[in-house]
Amino acid sequence: MLRQRSRQPEWMDDPEAAGFDTALAELALINRLSLAARPVLGFLDRVAARQGGRPLSILDVGAGGGDLLARIAVWAQQRRIAVELTGLDVSPWAARHAMARGVPAKWITADAFAVEGSYDVVLCSLFAHHLDDAALARFLVWLEARSRVGWLISDLHRHWLPWGFIWGAFRLLRLHPMVVHDSTVSIARGFTRADWRRLLAEAQVEAQLRWAFPFRWQVSVVR
Ligand SMILES: C[S@@+](CC[C@H](N)C(=O)[O-])C[C@H]1O[C@@H](n2cnc3c(N)ncnc32)[C@H](O)[C@@H]1O
Repeated sequence: MLRQRSRQPEWMDDPEAAGFDTALAELALINRLSLAARPVLGFLDRVAARQGGRPLSILDVGAGGGDLLARIAVWAQQRRIAVELTGLDVSPWAARHAMARGVPAKWITADAFAVEGSYDVVLCSLFAHHLDDAALARFLVWLEARSRVGWLISDLHRHWLPWGFIWGAFRLLRLHPMVVHDSTVSIARGFTRADWRRLLAEAQVEAQLRWAFPFRWQVSVVR
């Protein structure tokens, strides 16, 4: 069943979907429990070491409710690194959610591919699986063009173990129907190592590929 990337749509693919706001709140909790920020902050440590603590502009693509940006703001404060944070998401619910929670970032409500200009660092966590293979190859090229210092994709490993665990656990916890539906679809739309090797080759992009606990792939470039 999980042999190939699924093309099944997620409810969240509709930027105006009812329940989006609640789903973002539950996603922030899931991110915390699944240590989603850890590989991203580890990547930023690598960037900061290479940059010698210089100021960084950071774009988070598919930023959702901005909880990752809020964690990055704390990371930067602790390391005394000046950062200019920007969240980008196609759903207007994302900007509303982040503003209501005081996430210290500028916000762009747009499709990722419509955004121009460049940032020191471009990140995305749990965004890449929203794209089909053809769009992903374009997105890898887009990341190269939009980032001056480096970029990171952190996304789900397509594997029966997290799929089965999430299928049971999220129903048991009675999470929002959008989260229950989209969680297993997201894993089915996730990636194996072979997928990333193929996509990088198609896009002719060289990047580092790492597995991160629990069941994530990190694809990154630090220049
Ligand atoms: C699964 S959520 C992840 C949110 C956040 N990064 C996190 O880790 O909690 C994916 C987000 O990507 C956004 N998204 C999907 N397609 C997009 C696109 N083409 N351009 C910008 N944002 C998009 C969705 O609106 C959604 O907020």
